[in-house]
Amino acid sequence: MNHFLDIHKTDPANLRRIIDQAATMKTARAGRPRGTPDDEQPLAGHMVALIFEKPSTRTRVSFDVGVRQMGGQTMVLSGNDMQLGHGETIADTARVLSRYVDLIMIRTFDESVLIEMAEYASIPVINGLTDRTHPCQIMADILTYEEHRGPIAGKKVVWSGDGNNVCASFLHAAGQFGFDVTFTGPGQLDPEQEWIDLARSKGATVQIERDPHKAADGADLIVTDTWVSMHDAQSARERRHNMLRPYQVDSALMAAAKPDALFMHCLPAHREEEATSEVMDGPQSVIFDEAENRLHAQKAIMRWCLGV
Ligand code: CP
Repeated sequence: MNHFLDIHKTDPANLRRIIDQAATMKTARAGRPRGTPDDEQPLAGHMVALIFEKPSTRTRVSFDVGVRQMGGQTMVLSGNDMQLGHGETIADTARVLSRYVDLIMIRTFDESVLIEMAEYASIPVINGLTDRTHPCQIMADILTYEEHRGPIAGKKVVWSGDGNNVCASFLHAAGQFGFDVTFTGPGQLDPEQEWIDLARSKGATVQIERDPHKAADGADLIVTDTWVSMHDAQSARERRHNMLRPYQVDSALMAAAKPDALFMHCLPAHREEEATSEVMDGPQSVIFDEAENRLHAQKAIMRWCLGV
């Protein structure tokens, strides 16, 4: 049994196996109607609990569809509707769910909830996003980069904006997949030093550059995310916008990168804030491939977790 809790907690060989299997499974479905099952049904007889304590479109739908394509069944649970949201401990919830289902995917606030769920569950647990990390998204992003441009190892990834949970998982991936990260954003919103140190300890070059145009020089990939994440106080919205406005990804910033650089955003986006529509809908953007690849990457993650 394998949990998929964070990219830095999964060894590089297994991460590579997951990406390769995702690509293979995606190819096998090419041209097939979306509602049809895969030829292989590795999740037949399996029940998957999808727990959401925060809103979601992509994660909810891609996990649900992915399980069904592989022959399994899902139950989508809202944290508020469960006893978990009314005082039952995480440990007890994990033990109880382990008697009913075969796999848990949880999107929650504090990562301690995820960690405790995994500690007490006797079935695999997948991180569907916490305030601190978003590993499934970055597995989809690696798959997306590689299907457009080949191996990501040795490439320069520039993160522009808020050093948030998605940025954190990019730093984890830098150490595991061997690419470099330049963060450009206001000093108050730097990624956690722990994640920078971790990536560097694994051989990745991580740079902080306050000038976004200098940061973008030589970039193979430019990535951004919303300026106010789900866990940020709405009262901080105006202050964050003022700090982050210079880091908007527009066509001038893309022009500072390599001519064949890609643009990514995990979505949902606030158009004309963190990125312009010109970039989001432009020829370098792969944002909807990223969204599709959540499906394929997570199917491979679930197979790895269950060993099927
Ligand atoms: N990128 C992402 O996780 O999207 P959702 O919040 O819609 O699941």
